[in-house]
Amino acid sequence: MKSIEISISILSSDFGKMSEALKLCEDCGVERVHVDVMDGHFVPNITIGPVITAAVRQYTQLSIEAHLMIENPWDYIDAFIDAGADEIGLQVECYGQRRPACLQYGQYPKEIDTLDQEVFLRDVRRIKGRGRKACAVLNPGTPVEVLDGVLAEVSSVLVMSVNPGFSGQKFMPVALDKIRYIRARFQGDIGVDGGINAETAPAVIQAGANILITASYFFSSADPKAAAARLKSYSL
Ligand code: DX5
Ligand code: ZN
Repeated sequence: MKSIEISISILSSDFGKMSEALKLCEDCGVERVHVDVMDGHFVPNITIGPVITAAVRQYTQLSIEAHLMIENPWDYIDAFIDAGADEIGLQVECYGQRRPACLQYGQYPKEIDTLDQEVFLRDVRRIKGRGRKACAVLNPGTPVEVLDGVLAEVSSVLVMSVNPGFSGQKFMPVALDKIRYIRARFQGDIGVDGGINAETAPAVIQAGANILITASYFFSSADPKAAAARLKSYSL
């Protein structure tokens, strides 16, 4: 059984006190920092780019994962690696024919039914070729079977348990069956992102996830160290 790792999304931190937030992550014994990159096109929000990611890198030794919620992610992979990201998360919805309901600008969430495996794997290999981990990220409405042909090559999978765009949303249980499906076929890290807290963590761990991403649960806690420890305490 894989040990549980906690990844803190800095999206809910005080951006004026970033170095303190990162120090807090280290003091709380978490393993990772999660950088939510949004472009106002793939998702209806704009957040952080390579410049801030490079600043995060300066202030922590923790592993940094860049979760790219952006159109044309291939144009920015090198920039985030250069900024110091250890892992790059690619939304599979950028690599396939979009459903009619989300074809236009402003139509969310982005979803696909089939993955263009060759194009996706080209970027996976590019990331791994630069010595970083490549993560496949899946939106709640995208069927998990799109991963069938790529699991052998990705370093990890991230199952979205909210439609991406904002912190503080409610956990969507559709993630649980996906985690079970992937765990039955994949030995690597499986993360889950969105609405993770002390109530939702046991079920995702039971389903087979081993990386828990959290923003609002951690940063809104009166005792973040205890909050992180509580998530870990659900280890199988
Ligand atoms: C959602 C982001 C998540 C989000 C998690 O678009 O990818 O990483 O910040 O926030 P919480 O933990 O508050 O659901
Ligand atoms: Zn995220």
